[in-house]
Amino acid sequence: MRWARRAVPAVTAAVAALAARDLMQRDHALLRNFPVLGRARYLLEAIGPELRQYIVAGNNEERPFTRDQRRWVYASAKQENNYFGFGTDNDIEYTPGYPIIKHRTFGRAVPSSTPTAGHDVRLPCAKVLGGARGRARAFRPESVVNISGMSFGSLSGNAVTALNRGAALAGCLQNTGEGGLSPYHRNGGELVFQLGTAYFGCRDEQGRFSLDRLRDLVASAPVKALEIKLSQGAKPSLGGLLPGAKVSAEIAATRGIPAGQDCVSPSRHAEFSDCDSLLDWVELLAAETGLPVGIKSAVGDLGFWQELATLMRDTGRGVDFVTIDGGEGGTGAAPLIFTDSVSLPFQQGFSRVYKVFAEHDLHEQVVFAGGGKLGLPDNAIVAFALGCDLVNVGREAMLSIGCVQAQKCHTDTCPTGVATQNAWLARGLDPTLKSVRAANYLRTLRRDLVKVAEACGVEHPGLIGTDAVEILDGRTGSTPLHEVYGYRPDWGLPSPADQAEIVRLMAPEAPQGGSATPSPTAVG
Ligand SMILES: Cc1cc2nc3c(=O)[nH]c(=O)nc-3n(C[C@H](O)[C@H](O)[C@H](O)COP(=O)(O)O)c2cc1C
Ligand code: SF4
Repeated sequence: MRWARRAVPAVTAAVAALAARDLMQRDHALLRNFPVLGRARYLLEAIGPELRQYIVAGNNEERPFTRDQRRWVYASAKQENNYFGFGTDNDIEYTPGYPIIKHRTFGRAVPSSTPTAGHDVRLPCAKVLGGARGRARAFRPESVVNISGMSFGSLSGNAVTALNRGAALAGCLQNTGEGGLSPYHRNGGELVFQLGTAYFGCRDEQGRFSLDRLRDLVASAPVKALEIKLSQGAKPSLGGLLPGAKVSAEIAATRGIPAGQDCVSPSRHAEFSDCDSLLDWVELLAAETGLPVGIKSAVGDLGFWQELATLMRDTGRGVDFVTIDGGEGGTGAAPLIFTDSVSLPFQQGFSRVYKVFAEHDLHEQVVFAGGGKLGLPDNAIVAFALGCDLVNVGREAMLSIGCVQAQKCHTDTCPTGVATQNAWLARGLDPTLKSVRAANYLRTLRRDLVKVAEACGVEHPGLIGTDAVEILDGRTGSTPLHEVYGYRPDWGLPSPADQAEIVRLMAPEAPQGGSATPSPTAVG
């Protein structure tokens, strides 16, 4: 007990010193009024998210991803049991906006009998990217699920490596994000190269876009398409500043900027200033590289889309794909007002843009990609029904490689090494192990999409029409998806020729149900 006799005065002295400090300081009224005790509030505020996440929150609480959603991604990534027991705990009937997918009793495609069948099924895009515009390097994306743009710089090198190898294992594309094409993107996975306003990776010493550098870059890596980033759902119309302290030699080399100096991403592109010049630039990039070229954008005012579609119809120039990012989408860092309130959520934004293209009779010629929590099967199915041909997964892919939704991506203190440049933290992420997890997750999502498509009686999620989905109003009623978003009956599907081709492509591998041959008295 001698230690206690020594410890008590020491602790008392420390508490007294702390109390004196709290009483004298002027920054926090709470501490001046409640010295020492007031500190409990700051402690609870600091660990509140963890307390809520691990102890208090229910299965369907928490955002961006609920506990159920995260558990599904984690279990899928580890190839553990990702089923849920006892039935849904969602308040289905009384939740407004809840989507219901309507299965068919006797559909054309027969669902497989075993729960795990289809895990390795191929699920190519129902349209050929760049096909409608005859691009030299047009191709059919092997996977309808691909990895969304997330730069090296916002993600660690190990995270980019894990995702790139995961993309290679799962046979899908990884978008580089606007931060350039880093050595970590060169691990076997095929790429979509993103061109942001700063033209990282393809700019000259003055920061201007360099066509020569772009040509060299795409020739040096498995780049399959180019994406011009106009905006991102979480922070449309914002530029960015990477502080000099974060511009390491590696980031500087990848982006083509000087190390250690502040690096500004402007809020607008310098290469074009309206729809007309945008289309000229698209055609230039496509002609010079042979690659399909698309745009990524969040949706706000529709004037841009009206003008773009009209010019495409009237002048013959055009984008090969359009990626719509929902306002609920993710970011490494952004002001709260932008993440919470600027740009439309995915379904509303996507359906408005799709309708503009459909009204100009261009919807069958453009490949539509979507992002904004579409790495969850239910959201993805609604996206396909609305006319999406591809879904991009960002944060869900981060979850699959270990992200715990600590939401500290903007502080460089990511505890799991995913979104940080801190070498010690990034070291914790084993890219080899996590690449397998990313691939498992991507495959599981594809499998679930095939299973739901088959339940709806079709071979491929791109063939699920708007008639297969209803949106509940939370008061025991519901509205068909096409009525909610004002679609004509045939909208949301690929052209008849593309439909026939994807049915043909899916047919040999489509798992068939039924465990025994029919009895002699069977009538059908
Ligand atoms: C850490 C992080 C970095 C991102 N970086 C980019 C980027 O460089 N370019 C871009 O277009 N979008 C970027 N995004 C947005 C994603 O590509 C995606 O559009 C968005 O998160 C929605 O998809 P999700 O809900 O599946 O995450 C980033 C998102 C995150 C979370
Ligand atoms: S663990 Fe937290 S800080 Fe790291 S990537 Fe995930 S949300 Fe961001």
